[in-house]
Amino acid sequence: MPLPLCVRVDADDANSAQSLANDGWRQIEVLETWRQSRRRAWRVMKNYPVRAADKGDIPWIAELAASSFTHDRMHRDTTVPRDLADAAKRAWVEQTELPIWVPENGDLAFLILRRGIIDLLCVHKDQRWQGIGGKLIKAVMGKLLPHGLLQAGTQDTNTAAQRLYASLGMAVVRRQTSWHKP
Ligand SMILES: CC(C)(COP(=O)(O)OP(=O)(O)OC[C@H]1O[C@@H](n2cnc3c(N)ncnc32)[C@H](O)[C@@H]1OP(=O)(O)O)[C@@H](O)C(=O)NCCC(=O)NCCS
Repeated sequence: MPLPLCVRVDADDANSAQSLANDGWRQIEVLETWRQSRRRAWRVMKNYPVRAADKGDIPWIAELAASSFTHDRMHRDTTVPRDLADAAKRAWVEQTELPIWVPENGDLAFLILRRGIIDLLCVHKDQRWQGIGGKLIKAVMGKLLPHGLLQAGTQDTNTAAQRLYASLGMAVVRRQTSWHKP
């Protein structure tokens, strides 16, 4: 089954939303862009070292990616089978040209960062609520972009990601709706 086409429009653009709906597009999600309101210094986290994953890590990272996401547009679209949506996340990890950052202490989590923008972030469901997501972001920013501005996108339904980004001094700067058509 081919993946659906996707377009995005600003959430307050009612005219475009109406045209899309008239043309058979379905609204799938509200996507929020979060950004730091001002620069902060990210320190190297000596007590939470991180490393770039190597080839041997890819199987567990791909499995984690395939089994962890529920809020993204593929998982929210009821016409997309669950295993296809999972496979899209697995492929994201297997095909990225960017480094995948993981904690050195063996915590089951990873972060892919593209010039200060979170590309993919995940903590194993059994290890959530322990501050791992926040520590991983801080550690990678401290290592790569000590004065960088952090940005991320997430769905308005993803309370965990929203609270995490708010705790890092980020705020919503843009809201868009995502629309699918087969
Ligand atoms: C989003 C995610 C990375 C957060 O990781 P985490 O290690 O649990 O986050 P932290 O422990 O650092 O918690 C950060 C904040 O989120 C809160 N939080 C964590 N899980 C939560 C949940 N399920 N619901 C509500 N709040 C939650 C924490 O209480 C904390 O808030 P606080 O600082 O105000 O107390 C994790 O839930 C996850 O991997 N989810 C699935 C993949 C995903 O959605 N990734 C994000 C894509 S944008």
